[in-house]
Parts: sequence; structure tokens; C-alpha cells
Amino acid sequence: MSVQSSIKGKTLVISGGTRGIGKAIVYEFADAGANIAFTYHTNIEEAKKIAQDLESKYDVKVRYYQLNILEPEMYRDVFKEIDKDFDEINFFISNAIISGRSVVGGYGKFMRLKPKGLNNIYTATVVAFVIGSQEAAKRMQKNGKGSIISISSTGNLVYIQNYSGHGTNKAAVEAMVRYGAAELGEMGIRVNAVSGGPIDTDALKAFTNYEEVKTKTAELSPLNRMGKPEDLAGACLFLCSEKADWITGQTLIIDGGTTFK
Ligand SMILES: NC(=O)c1ccc[n+]([C@@H]2O[C@H](COP(=O)([O-])OP(=O)(O)OC[C@H]3O[C@@H](n4cnc5c(N)ncnc54)[C@H](OP(=O)(O)O)[C@@H]3O)[C@@H](O)[C@H]2O)c1
Repeated sequence: MSVQSSIKGKTLVISGGTRGIGKAIVYEFADAGANIAFTYHTNIEEAKKIAQDLESKYDVKVRYYQLNILEPEMYRDVFKEIDKDFDEINFFISNAIISGRSVVGGYGKFMRLKPKGLNNIYTATVVAFVIGSQEAAKRMQKNGKGSIISISSTGNLVYIQNYSGHGTNKAAVEAMVRYGAAELGEMGIRVNAVSGGPIDTDALKAFTNYEEVKTKTAELSPLNRMGKPEDLAGACLFLCSEKADWITGQTLIIDGGTTFK
């Protein structure tokens, strides 16, 4: 069975489908014939546009729901809404990330870190992954099969200026992925992380030294360019397909070869 044919007709739930990497994943899965339930935070107009565009281009059902990953318990109601629209859930991708005011005290130099910002990043990265995955797993259990992915970043392996709050929580979520994999395997559910090097998105533009990161990444990569959101989307499709049936508890690093240099 090809990657595409094992995705077709299945349903993906993903957080943060309106921009960057989440949007690229939503398009990749819809192109492969998957139905999509994606969340947005504030950008309802973009969510509406994406859903209409996908349904007009591909023979799939697409719905969107509001979620704030700083209030992970919201996932319980979001999944109840998803239940009304879709018969089953096959894949869950925890992708959304916070930025701006909520990361103040978490995004910055070590000596400036503060509890509130650090705790917010933990809530949005690790706790939201856990609560979303619990809800997804309850539904996947009924099919005896499922694939869960957390989107991580190589900022937990290499130094990125101001990134300690995010980097440490990406390390934590990768460890949580391994714990999830160890316990959800008996339900037929695989849990993995896809970890990206610097990818050209709004989140990266929010970095004060975006231009420098862009130039440095291209210099470090043997492939001589920065990452694109689509670079991570293909890996997610593969990990959700039957081609990855014995892959669980892993982090797939997609960094254009930058981490080794
Ligand atoms: N960019 C990179 O260099 C890079 C590299 C490796 C890994 N990653 C990871 O990839 C994932 C996506 O990053 P990105 O660069 O694509 O981000 P992005 O372009 O900033 O998009 C963020 C997404 O999250 C949603 N969001 C923002 N605040 C939220 C909140 N409080 N509650 C729920 N959803 C919220 C946004 O929705 P609205 O549009 O409605 O606000 C949007 O859909 C993250 O986990 C990030 O750590 C990024």
C-alpha cells in the first residue's frame, strides 16, 4: 500500500492549522485525501479561507475549531465538537505554538527568564500535547490504531539565542512522546516527534534576529538553504502512513543537515 492510499479517507486532527508548518501539513494531508479537523486561535478568517480552499480543491471534509493551548482543557470540548462532524479520528498532530505577550519571561536570555513565561510555554507545549493526545487516543482506541505526532525543534539540541524556554520544553515534549509511545502501543497507537531546524514561518520572523538565523542556517546546511514548512509536512504524512507501522517513540529530525555542523 502506498503512503497516499493509507492516508486517503482517514481523519487528521491538528492544532494550529492556519499558518506556517500547521498549514503546510493540512494541505499535505488533504492532497493525500484525508479529512481535516484543524484548530485556530484568533485567525478565524484565515481558517475559513483554508477550509473552503481545501474542500474546493480536494474531495475531503474540512472543519475548524477554536482552541487556546494555554487552556489545554479546552481540548475536551473541541474533541466533542469534532465527534459531531467526523466518525473517527486516525491521526493527531500537536503543532500549535504560542508567541508574543504570553512568552514574555520565557523567550529571552537566561538571566531574564521568569516563572510565568516559562510556565506558559510548558503549558502550551507539553500539557497541551498530553491533553490533546489523551482525547485523540480515546477515539483511536476504538479503531485499534492511530498515529500521534508532536512537532518539536532542534532548538533542544543546539543553542538558539533567546530560545531556552522553548528549547527545554521541546526536550520535555520529546521525552513525553517516548512515555506516550511506551503506554499507548497496546492500543495500536504510535507516538512520535518530528523535529525541525529553523523553518521560514511567522514564528521564526518573531525572532529578533530572523535575518541572521536565515543566513546562518543556509551556511550551516549542506543543502544551502533554510527549511520550508513543506519540509516537515511530508515526514508527518509518512509517519501517519502504514509505511511507518513499526516506528514509535522516535524523533525524526529534519534540519537540512544543520545540527551536525
Ligand atoms: N518556525 C520554525 O523555525 C520551527 C522549527 C521547528 C519546529 N517548529 C515548531 O512547529 C510548530 C509550528 O510553528 P510555526 O512556525 O508554523 O508557527 P506559526 O507560523 O507562528 O503558527 C502558529 C499556529 O499556532 C496557532 N496559535 C498561536 N497561539 C495559539 C494559542 N494560544 N492557542 C492555540 N493555537 C495558537 C496559530 O493560530 P492563529 O493563526 O489563529 O493565531 C497558528 O495556527 C511549533 O510547534 C514550532 O515550535 C517551528
